[in-house]
Order: sequence, then structure tokens, then C-alpha cells
Amino acid sequence: MKRIIKTALAAACLATAATSLVAAPASAAEPFKIGLIVPMTGPFASTGKQIDVAVKLYMQQHGDVVDGRKIQVILRDDGGLQPENTKRIAQEMVIQDKVNVLAGFGLTPLAFAAAPVATQAKVPMIVMAAATSSIVKKSPYIVRTSQTLPQNTAPLADWAATKGNIKTAITLITDYGPGHDAEKVFIKHFTDHGGKILESIRVPLQNPDFAPFLQRVKDAKPDAVFVFVPSGPGAALMKQFKEKGLAQAGIKLIGTGDVLDDDLLPAMGDEALGVVTAQHYSAAHNSPENKAYVAAFEKLTNNKMRPNFMSVGGYDGMHLIYAALKKAGPNATGDQLLAAMKGMSWVSPRGPVSIDPQTRDIIQNVYIRKAEKVNGQIYNVEFETIPNVKDPGV
Ligand code: PHB
Repeated sequence: MKRIIKTALAAACLATAATSLVAAPASAAEPFKIGLIVPMTGPFASTGKQIDVAVKLYMQQHGDVVDGRKIQVILRDDGGLQPENTKRIAQEMVIQDKVNVLAGFGLTPLAFAAAPVATQAKVPMIVMAAATSSIVKKSPYIVRTSQTLPQNTAPLADWAATKGNIKTAITLITDYGPGHDAEKVFIKHFTDHGGKILESIRVPLQNPDFAPFLQRVKDAKPDAVFVFVPSGPGAALMKQFKEKGLAQAGIKLIGTGDVLDDDLLPAMGDEALGVVTAQHYSAAHNSPENKAYVAAFEKLTNNKMRPNFMSVGGYDGMHLIYAALKKAGPNATGDQLLAAMKGMSWVSPRGPVSIDPQTRDIIQNVYIRKAEKVNGQIYNVEFETIPNVKDPGV
């Protein structure tokens, strides 16, 4: 009984605090606060680090004042894979720090956990990393600057069946939201073109060991294995793919770009060469905007990091926030910022992008790429562009 009362009290306090936040539009004298929640430690720390550098780079290039209002980023590490932690941090940021925008969200379960907080507090929530299609439906305050798995998978499956000379495939995905999206969409598009799926394999998200699953692939002898793993475990997967001798057995590896993440590629061996993937960003994207972006990013990290797709999610998320604040004015409410974000378009290091005003999801080019050596280093070299791809859903 005591516990019930306590819980009810806590909920009431939270509701009051959230309401008072909504009721009082921040004055121009206070900084405009961006609550950035990303994994900076744990197995997905590279996502947080990439986004953190990109956010710092954006502010270095564009200043920390927009329309007379000082911008302050509050960075918090949620450690990855602890949704309750992410939710608690989001609540603290809304109630104590009085943030004007929530941003980051390295993995789907973390974005799901924070969504109700954004809705209750009426603050825009910029999803810079997580990529399950349904995320944007979890709150009307969510706007996404990353990608969706169906968006990158559908063009790859079409390419594999029509131009990649692949007739049979096995899908091998990480067993959670974005992997399920990738599996479903790959199977649909590949089989629509007459391709045959021999087996669908799901690998755990935590501490994955790919070896037994790759052995199953080897035994079944498909033309190709389609893989989705989130940014991080790709290097281990590629290493085991090589050790098991799948390439020698005539089995191609294809996937969404998450497996050949630019953050991991410099440390990968020749096992990556020739692998075809589809994604919205490559550090080798050939445009003046991207050349400038990669050079500035590498300079800021003393040439220790190459920017990956997570970084552009962060960089473009900052652009979206700055542009919305300029458009809606320095005292804009969360609702006014959100309205300003809908339909916005700009040229990103990844190419032209826009925010779908209906779904609040990003519309962007998807590129088919092959991993090749460029000046002695492996890059995903784009060879085909599918323009302005909307999330097709699942
Ligand atoms: C996700 O959890 O939504 C996610 C994370 C990393 C990726 C893709 C999707 O590379």
C-alpha cells in the first residue's frame, strides 16, 4: 500500500514538473538546452563517440549562438542497452535541466524507452542513431535524422536479385527491432524478384558469437548471406566470416552498411574487400560537402577517427535543431520547433535530405557500395544511387 502511494506521488510530481515545463516557454536569457543521450561506454560506445564529435564539430563550425540565443549541449552516457537508464536520464533532463530538445538514442530499445518522456514534456526528440521503422510512431515529437533499416535493405535486395547475380540467400540478422525489419524487407524484395531464401537466422544482440551461425550458412551453400548487425559487432562478424572460409566456398556476404561501418573499416583486413552493402552514408561519398566534412572531422580527432553514418546522424540532427530555431525564433516552444522541422530540407555530407512532414522520418539517397582500397585504405565506394528514398515500412 505504502509503495502504491509512493509510486502515485512520484508520478504526480513528474506530471506537475513536466506540465510546468510546458507552461513556461524558456526566456531568451536562458540557454537553449539540448539533452544529448548516447552510449559513451559499453559495446556501443563508438556510436556515442561518433555523435559527440559530430555535435562538437557542428558547433565549432556554426557557433554556439542562434538568433541571439546561447546553445548548450548537455551530454549524458546511458551505457547502451539499458532502456530504464535512458528513460530516467531523459526524465531528469526534462525536469531538472529543463532541456528544450532531447537528442541521441543509440539503439532502438533506448529510443522506445524515451519516447513517452518527449510526448509528456512536449519536447522534440531527435533520433540520431536508432533505426527501427516504427520508432517515429512512438511519439509525435520524434524526428529522425539517421536511417531506417527498410530504407536501406529494400534497395539492396532489389540490387542483389536483379543485378548481383544472386539467386539463393540466407538472412542473418541481430535479433531485435532493426534486424527484424531488415529480415522481413529483404525476404519480401528478394523473393518478389524470384530469389529464394534458404534459411533465416537470428543472432543475439548481447555478446554475439557468429561462428556457429556462419557454419550453418556454409553448410547450406547459398549464393549469398544477407547480414544486418548494429554498428559495432561488424568487425567480429567479418573476421569469423574469413576464418570459416565462406568466401572460398563461393558464398558472398552482402548487407546494410552497418556491418562495414566506416568507424570499423580502417582496422578490418582484406576480408572486407569486394563486399557489397547499401546505405545512406560513406566517408568516401564524392561531394564537396562530404570532403569538407571528413577533413574537418578527422582534424578534430587528430586523425584518430573516420566519420561513420552515426556521425552524420548527429551532425544533421544539430543542423535540424539550429535551422528550426532560426525559423521559429529564439523563444519557440517545443511544438513550434517541431512544426519548423517538418518538411525541412538541406544538403548533408551524405547528399540531399529532407524531413517527411507526415512521418517526421528522413528522406535520403541510398547508395549501393563496394568495399575497395582507395589510397591504401578500405572504403565503401558508391557505384549506384537510388534517390530520395522514403522509409517503405515493413
Ligand atoms: C538500432 O538499434 O536501431 C540500431 C543501432 C545501430 C545500427 C542500426 C540500428 O547500426
